[in-house]
Order: sequence, then structure tokens, then C-alpha cells
Amino acid sequence: MSDATDLSRRRLLQCLGLSAAAMAVAPEWLLAAVEQGSQERPRQTEPDIELRITALITELPILSSDRPTKVWKFSGELIKGPAGTVEAIPDSYLGPVLRLRQGQKVRIRFHNKLPEDCVIHQHGMLVPEKADGHPRHQIGSGQTSVYEYTVLDRAGTYWFHPHTDKRTAEQVYYGMAGLILVTDTEEQSLDLPRDEFDVPLVIQDRSFDDRNQFRYVEHMHDRWMGFLGDRVLVNGKPNFVLPAATRAYRLRILNGSNSRIYKLMWSDGSPLTVIGTDGGLLKSPVIRNYVMLAPAERVDIWADFRGRKVGEEIALRSAAFSGVMPMMGMGGGMMGGGGGGMMGMRRGMRGGMMGRMGAALPHGSEYTILTIRIVREERGQLALPRRLSRIERYRPQDAANTRAPRSIHLSMRGMSPRLNGRSFELTKVVEEEMIPLNTLQVLEFVNRDHRDRGMMMAHPMHIHGQSFQVLKRELAPGFEQRYASVSQGFVDDGWKDTVLVMPGEKVTILKRFDHYTGLYLYHCHNLEHEELDMMRNFLVQA
Ligand code: C2O
Ligand code: CU
Ligand code: CU
Repeated sequence: MSDATDLSRRRLLQCLGLSAAAMAVAPEWLLAAVEQGSQERPRQTEPDIELRITALITELPILSSDRPTKVWKFSGELIKGPAGTVEAIPDSYLGPVLRLRQGQKVRIRFHNKLPEDCVIHQHGMLVPEKADGHPRHQIGSGQTSVYEYTVLDRAGTYWFHPHTDKRTAEQVYYGMAGLILVTDTEEQSLDLPRDEFDVPLVIQDRSFDDRNQFRYVEHMHDRWMGFLGDRVLVNGKPNFVLPAATRAYRLRILNGSNSRIYKLMWSDGSPLTVIGTDGGLLKSPVIRNYVMLAPAERVDIWADFRGRKVGEEIALRSAAFSGVMPMMGMGGGMMGGGGGGMMGMRRGMRGGMMGRMGAALPHGSEYTILTIRIVREERGQLALPRRLSRIERYRPQDAANTRAPRSIHLSMRGMSPRLNGRSFELTKVVEEEMIPLNTLQVLEFVNRDHRDRGMMMAHPMHIHGQSFQVLKRELAPGFEQRYASVSQGFVDDGWKDTVLVMPGEKVTILKRFDHYTGLYLYHCHNLEHEELDMMRNFLVQA
């Protein structure tokens, strides 16, 4: 593999006097040739799907039509492929919904019209390293690049967002993200709600200033704890209402927030029927009173409104929880969970260094995310399938490192969240980050940095490439109270690519590294933490 990365190569070209503008007019084949340098695979022939994605800045009415909000956005356009492959969400800063099918060859022509670098990452999908959106492949303002891959992943809800060096959190916050819905023959053979009854819902928190403009990090603690907005948007809209019929729906929920964690619950107390997680459908449905959804995680909910009356409303809410934030500056009694705890916390924070943090909507408080309004009757008779998909459980004894799990210790020393004490280095890996191709690996995320106990917080840990399976969660003694209000909300039965690791927890996962060699990222998906370099590379090598 060549060490010269695209990022460094571009800097070199820039030093030689080739400006971004010069690069912009360079024909595509030249850029392709430049990129060929470190690509061992031949370029694929004719794609089944070809699309153009442009990163740009525009204005949209979010809170009111006479005071639009400036947003950053991916806009998409289908060049070749079935109609419906690229579907824009009207009046939303979110990028288009991309509908793909397993086996399709995809080519994405990316044009960066932002005033700064950008790159597209397809979260949850296994693609060649050149198409994975590593920051070393980011392109400058005015430039174009091409991503090519075959859809290997199973049916599921995936998504795309920038992965720009030190700029990911801000670019996502200002609007850059979109969904990728993959289908396959197994999913098609099921009688699941389709079309308008298969509803993608992207949950994000944002803050606005008095001119309706997005307000982002103002204090350093917004960065090292993660930015919290003071209101919730769904699919880019405030006070989201889904008009629904009296029948079954599939709600595909993505937590697209920078750092906020949700505890999903129906307002009338009925349980949630979970049919899928990050990497697609579960083996069979799972019933939970509440579901925790950390940044980047997805959950598919089967919502059956049969028997409800026209005019009735039911809300999807985030219920009260505690234990995910650092405890410094708070009395132990405030972590007890429930409404009383939150009141105490709010009081305790006022005027302190955390005084402004998400003041209107503290992490773990109770609030409505969206409302379902029953608007018409329908005699749909769709029944919840008992079997949803085939999932073979990995066995730890089949791993290449059964006795020596690769441990990733999460820490928050000072203002710097780290992985095994290290920060991100663009292309560097250490010995323990080198992974032999085509192996099953045991990995463990350990959130037990006792040296700075007060700083411990929950981290949603994500690994690029194939989805993984969660083998077990183990909690260190003394953390039970911090764990109590979230403990029943983790759905670890299926395929995951992001897993929330609570303070005191060790989460052991099994993950395969197949198909592609190269550098693949692993990081905290609290985007402010990622931006503070709580990220590293794995090098998958033959
Ligand atoms: Cu959703 Cu490396 O990211
Ligand atoms: Cu990812
Ligand atoms: Cu983190």
C-alpha cells in the first residue's frame, strides 16, 4: 500500500501551485488516474446505479418561512438506475434517501461546492477503502471525486455523512446527512409495510439563535461532553407529526444527533416492537418497554395502529434517564434517575460551568420526539412476521484471537477523549490495530478509566466495515445505579455497527474483517468526541 494519501498528495499538488480551481477543471479521468495510485482493484465496469451528490450551502425554512435557516446539505440526482433510487425529502436539509439493492454496482460522482474540504462516508456499509470516506480521501472546495462499490450489505437502514478531518461534527450539525435503505431478496420475501408505510425518521437535536440560524458549540465543554441542541427535529422539521392510518407501519429510526442519546418510549406506555437494528432485520421481533438509541444507531419499529380511533394521537417520547454524562460538579444523589434527579441536576448546573449546556433540554430529560396522528381508517391486515431473517451467531471459539481480545480502553483525560490513550493519526496504526484479512476477531470496548472517574461518560462506539455482533455486556461493581435507568434498553440481538458503552461497562463484540484490505476507522460517534480525535484506524491486511 502506498503511504502517499490523497490528502497529502493534494497538499503536494497545492504546494506545486495547482490550486483547488485548477483541480476543479481537471477532467475526471485525470482525478481517477491520480486516485488509482493506491488502488489495487481494477475499476469496476458499468455500474447499475450512477448518481451525483453535491455538497452545497443553501437556505431553507425550518422554523418559519420568512426567516429561513442557512444549511449545509447533500443534494442528489440520479444519472442512471431505477426511478426512486434517489428520493429527496421535501424542504429538508437532509440529503436524499438512496434506495439500493444488494448486489448492485454503484457509482457516486461527488461534487464539493462547500467552501471547505469534504468527503462522504457510507455508515454501516462494507465498501472498498477508497469508497469508505476516510478523511485522507477528502477533497477540497470545487473538487470532484468518484466512489464505486458493490452493495454487499444485507437489507437495512444505513446512512451517509461527511468524515472530514476535524470538521465532521460541524458539517453534520449544519445538515449534512442522508439515509441509504438497502433491500435484498430475504427482506422482499417478507410481508412488511412498504412504500408510504415504511417511514424513515431521522432524529436530531439543534439549537437556533433569534434569527433562526443554527447555533453550534459556544463553549469548550460543548465540545468535550458533546453538543446538545435545545429542540428536537425529525427529518429536519420541528414539531413533527406523522399522519397515519389504522394499520401497521415500519418506522426506521436513525439517531442522527451529534451527541444526544434517546430513550424511546410510546407515550401511552405500550411496549415497542423492535424488528431491526443497525445492520437490518432481527431474527425475530423483540418487545421492549423502552429502547436506548445512541448517536448513529438505528432501530426498526413495527408500529401497529389497528384499533385506534381517527383523531387519536400517540407520541414517541424520550423518557427520563441518567448516568450517561460526567458526574463532576454534581452530588452523587443527583444520579438517582427519574424526574427528581433531573431537577436537582438543573439546579446544580445553573451558573456553573455547565450552566448553558442544553439548558432547555438536558440530556436524559423527558420530551416528545414526534407525534403520530391517526387520520384515516384502513382495513390493513398485515401481521407481524414471527421470523424476520436468518442470522447466524458468531461463536467466540471461532475467532482468530479467542483468548486475547483486542481491548479498546475509552478514556477522558483532561479535555481529551482517547482510545487506548491515543488520539487520531491520519494513517498511523500500531501493532494491535493490524488485523489479518478474512478473520473473525473478538474486540472489547472498556469504559472503566478509574483514574478519572468523575469524567466517565457513555460513548457510542462505531467501527467501519462489516456489521458486528454483541457477545456480552459486563458492568463493573459500583456502577449499578448509573446503569439502572438504561439497562433494559439495549437491543443487541442482531447486527450492529455502533454500540453504546456506558460508564463501568465492558462490551465484547465479534466482528469479521472480510473482502477488503486497507485502513478502516473506529471511533466514538459522539461527533464532538470524534472531532477531538477519539478515533483510530484499523489496518486490514492480507
Ligand atoms: Cu458514522 Cu466513521 O462514521
Ligand atoms: Cu461509519
Ligand atoms: Cu465519546
